[in-house]
Amino acid sequence: MSNLIAPSILAADFANLQRDIEMVNNSEADWFHIDIMDGVFVPNISFGMPVLKAITKHAKKTIDVHLMIVNPDQYIQTFADLGADILTVHYEACTHLHRTVQAIKAAGMKAGVALNPHTPIAVLEDIIEDLDVVCIMSVNPGFGGQSFIENTYKKVSQLKHLIDFTESECQIEIDGGVTSYNANALIEAGANVLVAGSFVFGSENPTQTIADLKKTIE
Ligand code: DX5
Ligand code: ZN
Repeated sequence: MSNLIAPSILAADFANLQRDIEMVNNSEADWFHIDIMDGVFVPNISFGMPVLKAITKHAKKTIDVHLMIVNPDQYIQTFADLGADILTVHYEACTHLHRTVQAIKAAGMKAGVALNPHTPIAVLEDIIEDLDVVCIMSVNPGFGGQSFIENTYKKVSQLKHLIDFTESECQIEIDGGVTSYNANALIEAGANVLVAGSFVFGSENPTQTIADLKKTIE
């Protein structure tokens, strides 16, 4: 599995969204990571369907949608229609996670599950074989620009063991506080998709920052 970079649009300049989307299109980035927050599951509201529609109109790479919302089931078809390729829901927000994952796949998308920093990997034992992506949150979800939680490394290796043991093909995505300082260690621990928001968009030359990150994790 190759190692991928997914810039988080949450950190883009929303007044220059098309410019920032084109930057990602023309960069070495692999996915667009798009954070949807409802102000209920997390203490922040990002943006919703009309903005996602505007993004997918211009974005030419895989659309990785990270839902930080309660009751994601009611919007699965909407996100498929808006062009999501991967739809990730939070373990903590889904009472019937198996049903939700099957519904995401039935709608033609890849299915991801995200875990909050306090949620153990073990809760995935009975669903790992159904997943395309597991997103390990390396910050508490809700905001960009937070510091990376070091316990993440341990969770990445536990998840890698679970994936190898079950011979599943799921990708390991890390979301929050990713920089060029921890990128390589995360890949070494077993991750293969790194989300980066403020580190990319807060840098002087985002295209170069993406290229540098890619080189670090090659
Ligand atoms: C946090 C979001 C992240 C965020 C990452 O709730 O899920 O995707 O945009 O931002 P940085 O890379 O700045 O931590
Ligand atoms: Zn995210």
